[in-house]
Amino acid sequence: MKLLAIETSCDETAAAVVVDGRMAASSVVASQVDLHARYGGVVPEVASRQHLQAIVPVVREALDAAGCTLDDIDAVAATRGPGLAGSLLVGFNFAKSLAYGRELPFLGVNHLEGHIYANWLVEGPEPEFPALCLVVSGGHTDLVLMRGHGQYERLGGTRDDAAGEAFDKTGRLLGLPFPGGPAVAKEAARVESSSLTLPRAWMPGTYDFSFSGLKTAVLHVVRAGKHDVPTIAHAFQEAVVDVLAGKTSRLARELGAAEVLVAGGVAANTRLREELRRRCPVPVRIPPPKFCTDNGAMIGAAACYRFALGERSPLDEDIFTTNNWASA
Ligand code: KG4
Ligand code: ZN
Repeated sequence: MKLLAIETSCDETAAAVVVDGRMAASSVVASQVDLHARYGGVVPEVASRQHLQAIVPVVREALDAAGCTLDDIDAVAATRGPGLAGSLLVGFNFAKSLAYGRELPFLGVNHLEGHIYANWLVEGPEPEFPALCLVVSGGHTDLVLMRGHGQYERLGGTRDDAAGEAFDKTGRLLGLPFPGGPAVAKEAARVESSSLTLPRAWMPGTYDFSFSGLKTAVLHVVRAGKHDVPTIAHAFQEAVVDVLAGKTSRLARELGAAEVLVAGGVAANTRLREELRRRCPVPVRIPPPKFCTDNGAMIGAAACYRFALGERSPLDEDIFTTNNWASA
């Protein structure tokens, strides 16, 4: 099955051609990051206008790069949510129109389920169930047990800021460019270790996370003016990575998970990748960085497996339709 998948939930206009849910024949991502950097964050209205300009060329390029035309495409998928409404609408309606015009089956995909399926784009054997998924993106931090395709149980998640959001806000407090995640990681890599230790919120007895207190701790350290930027970035990153890797590895052991699947933009973080691999008692699968951050291929992979389960979205489905993934 050759699927055209579109992702426009935030500030990347992305399209991909995915074959049988396991191979990205192409994956094109037009980033708007430079445009939003001057505002220090994503401006929703600017993002949707940019998607409108980029969507046709990006889809064309995805088809060209895969060496195919719309005649070769068997089905169309797009991110339905969660995300910025004005951004989602561009990709979702474009994909629905294509499906309608070409009389192709269509499927709306949950963005977070898409992130998880980036793990199916990695070469080698398919992930094994039950898999414990750690989803760490700009908007979400969730621990989800995946028992099979389309079968999810949410076991924990953040009570306040998402991990990526904490990186972005810390980046801003440290005067680093947007987005904060990669910038904080780069600063942190300048020092081997630091004398500074920042607090970890362990949320005992739960598999929940909390990162807002850590952000406040960073603010106090910045105001005190005793530590330089790399030292603070390092201490912040260590605190986030310690809690994420600590809780994920413990839960994987308790559940007897076959594998740990890591997903979302923060999964691109080198220290997090290292620590999860070091501490987890089972194999840890993490997509290559280009499939961790938002892309169309992950949406195509997720859609392939849902199509295989016989699912289709009606063309009157909209971005406010209940997201059909982790029921809990
Ligand atoms: O999954 P994603 O591309 O978009 C959302 O669905 O939110 O995640 C974006 C988030 C941002 O918060 C960004 O700062 C963070 O992922 N991120 C990173 C790194 N690369 C991206 N955080 C830490 N280290 C990185 N290397
Ligand atoms: Zn995302």
